[in-house]
Amino acid sequence: MKIAVVGATGLVGTKMLQVLEERNFPLTGLLPVASERSIGKEITFKGKPYKVVSMQDAIDARPQLALFSAGGDTSKEWAPRFAEAGITVIDNSSAWRMDPSKKLVVPEVNAQTLVASDKIIANPNCSTIQMVVALKPLHDRYKIKRVVVSTYQSVTGTGKAAVDQLYNERAGKEGPMAYKYPIDLNALPQIDVFLDNGYTKEEMKMVNETKKIMGDESIRVTATTVRIPTVGGHSESVNIEFGEDFDLGELRDLLSGAPGVVVQDDPAQQIYPMPLWAHDKDDVFVGRIRRDETQPNTVNMWIVSDNLRKGAATNAVQIAEYLVQNGLL
Ligand SMILES: NC(=O)c1ccc[n+]([C@@H]2O[C@H](COP(=O)([O-])OP(=O)(O)OC[C@H]3O[C@@H](n4cnc5c(N)ncnc54)[C@H](OP(=O)(O)O)[C@@H]3O)[C@@H](O)[C@H]2O)c1
Repeated sequence: MKIAVVGATGLVGTKMLQVLEERNFPLTGLLPVASERSIGKEITFKGKPYKVVSMQDAIDARPQLALFSAGGDTSKEWAPRFAEAGITVIDNSSAWRMDPSKKLVVPEVNAQTLVASDKIIANPNCSTIQMVVALKPLHDRYKIKRVVVSTYQSVTGTGKAAVDQLYNERAGKEGPMAYKYPIDLNALPQIDVFLDNGYTKEEMKMVNETKKIMGDESIRVTATTVRIPTVGGHSESVNIEFGEDFDLGELRDLLSGAPGVVVQDDPAQQIYPMPLWAHDKDDVFVGRIRRDETQPNTVNMWIVSDNLRKGAATNAVQIAEYLVQNGLL
């Protein structure tokens, strides 16, 4: 199988290549694609050099699959052209996520909804992916009514320019600013642009994408998303109210047995999930699991995952693996 990786020189694209390599994805040809600036540049995959090609050259080479991570505008323009040529697109941008005709997929939650005619498949927002992986087994058992989430998000979620800003600030060097304000030693309560309702776009992504992926419009979600100077992954403080009461031991067991979830929760030993530990891992780590003592049927937890892996590259590759394993390409 031939695969195009669109945005191959970016943070997510580089991670996709790493994940495809590590998981030994059954590919026979690779077409790295990036902007006009990078055409001809060499990238290495499984020890072999590959030259970056243009979008049109990639379409002309007729891969079966294209993994896109080159921004929303690029996806809006090019994903339909790939799809028209019969190439299945898995898109990491926000361009198609809320389009009612496109599936928004986290394999642990809703891969079974995919069919062969899905030619553009959307990969959700990173902060939403890690949350729904942990919510799904709890929703199936106790029916979630409401979620209150506050995030502590890594600069890697913004892309290369933001990582450069953080390290430039640390080194006392001048450089381009990915954010309006300094990020080192700071916390920015703004991720993406503000909307008319006073929330940011990132916050509303968490609200709307959660309902779509879980297939349940009745789940109420409210979010505050914050950028902090970490690089290993996103952290989330999540308060979940259920329709019925739960046993804390059973809830922990449900999480421990859930696909993609690792429970790291031992207060006596000061064990809890952290971006430093989640970095470069594929799992969603859950800890600080405790009853909310202020109202019934409610639990608090702390969820951490590497946003470039499960939040982006790994999730996209898992969707691709599902398509291959189920003969949907
Ligand atoms: N970072 C995350 O955690 C995360 C998570 C989920 C989704 N995403 C999404 O993934 C996408 C990429 O994010 P990133 O963090 O990897 O950004 P990034 O590091 O800035 O990389 C952007 C990539 O897109 C390519 N590109 C830009 N304009 C292009 C064009 N007109 N045609 C073809 N390629 C083009 C760039 O190529 P050049 O090197 O040639 O400029 C580069 O390969 C964004 O849509 C983002 O929202 C990111």
